[in-house]
Amino acid sequence: MANDNADSLIIGLAGLGTVGGGLVTLLQSNRDIIERRCGKKIVLKRVLVHNLQKKRHVTLASGTEVTDDLTRLTDDPEIDAIVEVIGGQTTAQTLIDRALDHGKHIVTANKALLAERGLPLFAKAKEKNRILRYEASVAGAIPIVQALKDSLASNHIHSLLGILNGTSNYVLSQMTADNLDFATALQQAQDKGYAEADPSLDIDGFDSAHKLILLIRLAFGVHYDFSKLPIQGIRNLSAMDIRLANQLGYHIKLIGSAKAAGKSDHEIEAGVFPALVSHSFLLARVEGAFNAIHIKADAAGSLFFHGRGAGDLPTASAVLADLLAVAREEYPNNTGFALDLPKAEIFPEAESSSCYYMRLMVDDAPGVLRDIAGCMAAEGISMSHVMQRTQDGFSEVPLVLMTHETTECAMQKAKQAISAKLHPREMVSFKVLA
Ligand code: HSE
Repeated sequence: MANDNADSLIIGLAGLGTVGGGLVTLLQSNRDIIERRCGKKIVLKRVLVHNLQKKRHVTLASGTEVTDDLTRLTDDPEIDAIVEVIGGQTTAQTLIDRALDHGKHIVTANKALLAERGLPLFAKAKEKNRILRYEASVAGAIPIVQALKDSLASNHIHSLLGILNGTSNYVLSQMTADNLDFATALQQAQDKGYAEADPSLDIDGFDSAHKLILLIRLAFGVHYDFSKLPIQGIRNLSAMDIRLANQLGYHIKLIGSAKAAGKSDHEIEAGVFPALVSHSFLLARVEGAFNAIHIKADAAGSLFFHGRGAGDLPTASAVLADLLAVAREEYPNNTGFALDLPKAEIFPEAESSSCYYMRLMVDDAPGVLRDIAGCMAAEGISMSHVMQRTQDGFSEVPLVLMTHETTECAMQKAKQAISAKLHPREMVSFKVLA
């Protein structure tokens, strides 16, 4: 029987992990403000879980059923909207697709699904005239989807630059401030409920990349193919680079960046990479599981969004905001653009330009710096700073070079030439955001 009670929105919740549990808690603790805001009760009718036997940390209201059969959510005519927070792609896609077929509105936190397989779901939501909202899928509690889709809708966005993964930022912060090793810091992030079920998504940059694809769609109105996005994580980042960067006045952060490349409306230069961020830049001061996004827009100017990017209640806050919008029966505005999205033209990574930090482990011997400088000069790279920290008793030293702006292509060529000439035991480089 369809829900014909105008005083309530009946929902099904798929997933009772960190975010699902947070949503149950928030629905109970903030019932009063929810009803005052939208004039309806939000009633959780049924919860889909993978394992019915698993012990849960939240207590469901007495009328709420638990099932492991997704059709009990998708096919129930009384359910108005489905909240999908199970993560992963295959089951989530089946669930959302089937739920749309049965006329449900959708609220999801699933950035991986929307980034990699989102277009057919947006198309189906449009065809069925259903709402598909996903505020919780990017940057946790920060209302960045709403901001780009609605609040900044009249602007051309020039660029966006952000810290989009709470787990990586937590790990980097702990390694920087407390000298923790990588594994211990990651375990702490997992214990706090920030990490994905598979934490390699966080530390290898894929979670940031998924979020960046969604932000590119919202900011520039184009679909950037996930498989073409340059992605580099923090797994191999050494404590030595974090320390040396700090001495030079920078923090290393995992950055997601996208900008209009300028040759056409659809050409986007984008990537996820660890970068040195000057201590004087607000992004460098984003600590722990916090996320931040810096946007430059033609009319609104420069905006900085900062907030909790992971965790149960911050993420549930974004999910619930979407549910309130559904309860208010807002008209579908799922992509923020009126027409179907064209494909992005991809600016070649080799042509992107930046200043760079480069560290090499080299012999402390005459001519080494001359040879390195020669390889850099041959590619037209000019250096702004050189630092060598001699260590007593070691013949090998870390040599750090900071460059003026150059291209990725020139840097790669210079590194190849240095490798061939000097065979340094280790050579790493990172972009520098000043
Ligand atoms: N694992 C994600 C993060 C959670 O660490 O940011 C929010 O998407």
